[in-house]
Order: sequence, then structure tokens, then C-alpha cells
Amino acid sequence: MTKMNVVAIDGPAGAGKSVCAKRLAERLGLEFLNTGGMYRAVALLGLRQGLDLADEESLATAASNARIESREGRTYLDGEDVTEAIRSPEATQATRYAANAPSIRAILVKAQRAIGESRGIVTEGRDQGTAVFPDARCKIYLTASVDERARRRVGEHLARGEQVDFDTIRDQIAARDKSDSEREVGPLCQAPDAVVVVTDGKTIDEVVAELERIAREKLA
Ligand code: DC
Repeated sequence: MTKMNVVAIDGPAGAGKSVCAKRLAERLGLEFLNTGGMYRAVALLGLRQGLDLADEESLATAASNARIESREGRTYLDGEDVTEAIRSPEATQATRYAANAPSIRAILVKAQRAIGESRGIVTEGRDQGTAVFPDARCKIYLTASVDERARRRVGEHLARGEQVDFDTIRDQIAARDKSDSEREVGPLCQAPDAVVVVTDGKTIDEVVAELERIAREKLA
């Protein structure tokens, strides 16, 4: 099987996947695909339509009738840029209904594959190197300790002037890790052929430089 011109980056929430994958894509001249945004957009759609999010069939019907797109790291729902709206605490909480629903994963995985088949991409998510692009040329598992990820998240809140409790944020991250790893379809797991990059104590620039070295070697 010929390998696809895909750099697949998977890892837990808060490891720095989005920002690093976006910069890596720019350096490599490839398109950036943010797959978490697609699951978030389905959740936002369900919230906006007042659906019972636990009713997989109605959420899947809404998702298949909607246009969910990821372009240059921004997420669009029926043409509207929802990049900020999908990151609200309410949408973040609701995303697990979309991510845990096999029929919704099937719709989004198909859309993601179609993009990877048409052009070179750097894609990030939980299942990109495993379920979606098992034949990606380059697979990276980007991770960091729970404490490091919680510190970063607390820093982001403080930068926005929001007071938050470290232990609460730490518990939320650990709960998301558990939910992401234990789902039956498309769980977060490391592909056996992925290169593991641990980002504890590293700056974004250092991580991007490391990813670029790995990707250039694999894509060569
Ligand atoms: O990367 P993120 O935080 O934007 O992802 C939002 C949620 O979507 C996260 O809880 C896991 C889920 N997700 C997924 O199940 N599969 C992906 N490929 C990407 C994200």
C-alpha cells in the first residue's frame, strides 16, 4: 500500500497539538486539519437545535445534513466561522456526545479521509494515525504529563483574567483523558509506529522544531 502524504498527530487534550500542528503545516506547506473542531461543531449544532444530545440518531441526522468544514485551522458550520463558539465550556462539555457516537464518527472520519486523499495535510486529533490514516507517512504521538497540561490551561485562563482552581482543572483534564481513551470507537491510543514527543518543559518553538525534523525525515 502506498503511504499517504499525511502527518498524523494524536495525543491527549492540552498537549499542544493544535498550535504545534498548525505551525508545522505552515513550515511544511501542507494544509492543517483540526479534527477536534469537527466533533465540537456537531455538539454546537445539537445545542443550537435544542436536540437531546444523548439521542445519537437525531444528532447524527443533524450532522449529516450540515456542512462541517475545517480550513486553515478554522472550523465552519454551514459556512459560519464557529472557531470561537465551539470552545465555550458548554460546547466543550457537550462534545463527548458527538465523539462517543459511532455514527457521527463514521460521518466525520469519511470527511477527514476525503481531505487527506485529495491533498497533503497535517492533521491532529485522537485517532488520526490509528483509525483514520493508518497509512500516514508520518505519525506522531504528542503528549505531556497531566500536571503540565493543567498548568498550561490555568495559565490560559489567567491570561484571560479568569480565576480558576488548579485541582479542578487537573481533574477535568484527567476525566477527559479517561473518556477519550475508553471510548469504543476511535479511542485515543498511540499507533505502534508513532514517534512519541513529550512536551513537558519545552517551548512551542522547540516542539515545532522537533516535529519538523521528524516529519521531514518521514516525508522524504
Ligand atoms: O482536540 P479537542 O480538544 O478540540 O477535541 C475535542 C474533543 O473531541 C475531545 O474530547 C476528543 C474528541 N476528538 C475525538 O474524539 N477524535 C478526534 N479525532 C478529535 C477529537
